[in-house]
Amino acid sequence: MKKTVLTGIKPTGMLHLGNLIGAIRPALKLAEDASARCFYFIADYHALTTVHDPKQMAELTSQVTAGWLSCGLDPNKNTIYRQSDVPETFELAWVLSCFAGKGLLNRAHAYKAVVQENEKDAKKDPDAGISMGLFNYPVLMAADILLFDTDEVPVGEDQVQHIEIARDIAQRFNHTYGEVLKVPKAVIQKAALVPGLDGRKMSKSYDNTLPLFEDSAKLRKMIMKIQTDSTPPEAPKDPAASTIFSLYELVATPEQVSALRTRYQSGIGWGEAKQALFEVLDAQLKGPREAYTKLVANPSELEKTLQKGAQEARKVASSVLGRVRKATGIGK
Ligand code: TRP
Repeated sequence: MKKTVLTGIKPTGMLHLGNLIGAIRPALKLAEDASARCFYFIADYHALTTVHDPKQMAELTSQVTAGWLSCGLDPNKNTIYRQSDVPETFELAWVLSCFAGKGLLNRAHAYKAVVQENEKDAKKDPDAGISMGLFNYPVLMAADILLFDTDEVPVGEDQVQHIEIARDIAQRFNHTYGEVLKVPKAVIQKAALVPGLDGRKMSKSYDNTLPLFEDSAKLRKMIMKIQTDSTPPEAPKDPAASTIFSLYELVATPEQVSALRTRYQSGIGWGEAKQALFEVLDAQLKGPREAYTKLVANPSELEKTLQKGAQEARKVASSVLGRVRKATGIGK
């Protein structure tokens, strides 16, 4: 029996280099593991906690799907689907909510952070601006995971608590009904820190990202905007203190990196360093960019891929949900 690996992708922004290095590449590596059956899904209903513009929701969902596919996620070797196409998820989420302690969810970081922010203002209701969707977010995530008898969930550090909540809910369910749900474990992906154009962590909330699928000219322009200091071109430069160099290290070969390091030591103009980064990155993104452009121009092809994935996913999902219904005495 192959182990099942599952991970969700929340479509809340255009993909950027930080996503490629921190999430997409590690996930693609996992997909190469022949002893694993991998499920990847676009968590559109999770995005609904924050994305309330219908056009944006639809666009982000297809852009993020197309983005992952064009970076190399193979729908013929893995199951790729849209969360909302697997309705079993939402039935299981209700069942699980009956086994999720309210206290457990009160302690979820994302919810707690908003409450703590509200509490700074004594006149404010601690739950101001908090929807039940935000509160129940971890329950929906538990359903995503438990619905597939998942063994491993590769996630970043920030999601580990959610996996612990899923485990806790599964154990409570099993305590009542016997070993019905598989208790998953988190596999923490230690991602390299990817600096953004201003040197802080690359993040869409800082507006400092390098988007993956812009054309060459735009990409070059953005790289030329990376903040640097005013050391003259001929002065030796510390690679460790340079955003350009840190980015270069993440995308270039070891030989290229050592060559650029030598150039830094002998003095390199920032323009030249930026050009070197641009050339390596542009060469790497060329293939994905072309694939992406083709995919977004052909929505029916993309949809076909997602429907194939949903069909595969629902086969597993309906059998697990069947077990849950039987165990609880629900339905016939
Ligand atoms: N909450 C995850 C994030 O924000 C996305 C997600 C939704 C997920 N369901 C999941 C991740 C199930 C792993 C497993 O990144």
